[in-house]
Amino acid sequence: MNTEESGNLRVLNWLFKPAGFLMESRLRQWLMNPVKTLEGAGIETGQTVLEVGCGTGFFTIPAAKLLGDEGRLVAMDPLQDYTRRVSKKVESAGLKNVRVVKRDALNTGLNTASMDMVLLFGVIPFPSLPLNRLLPEMHRVLKPQGSLAVWLFPVSGLVPKWILEPGLFTFVGKRNGVYNYRRC
Ligand SMILES: C[S@@+](CC[C@H](N)C(=O)[O-])C[C@H]1O[C@@H](n2cnc3c(N)ncnc32)[C@H](O)[C@@H]1O
Repeated sequence: MNTEESGNLRVLNWLFKPAGFLMESRLRQWLMNPVKTLEGAGIETGQTVLEVGCGTGFFTIPAAKLLGDEGRLVAMDPLQDYTRRVSKKVESAGLKNVRVVKRDALNTGLNTASMDMVLLFGVIPFPSLPLNRLLPEMHRVLKPQGSLAVWLFPVSGLVPKWILEPGLFTFVGKRNGVYNYRRC
């Protein structure tokens, strides 16, 4: 069974419920301002952005608002429970620039060179997102000179170096806790 199929399993969705609760808790909102983190990624109005592993949408709604009506956000996650929750939030916020996609980011199905930016926020390191498969797919969907923005949770000192190893991205700088890379 692949990641996408397992995202439909009731037991898995049930197991991830407490994580979902923590992801959108008031404590997190209090500790972390999602807009500040998105600004650290250099997100700009009118861009087309892929958010990998949107979870319960902690970053999705603020990102869509920053992108504005001219921008586009693809919020991707394989877990059915999470994508349903994010779709509801998008609808209640009246946002028309978000497409919530229930899919494995190792095989996004998105067009080549279609994204200005990819957000990897709180998704690496993660067992179902091995860098040796994730990075080539992110490189494929990004436009030339597109940006890869990484906010690490848990903080893992080696990951920023591992991202550089395949030679697909160069490091641009770190802002508001976000590691920024450019597609080679
Ligand atoms: C720790 S959560 C972070 C969620 C969100 N980015 C946040 O910071 O609130 C990791 C997320 O990655 C998703 N995920 C795991 N494997 C994935 C894959 N192969 N493709 C896309 N998303 C994946 C999980 O379902 C989960 O929602």
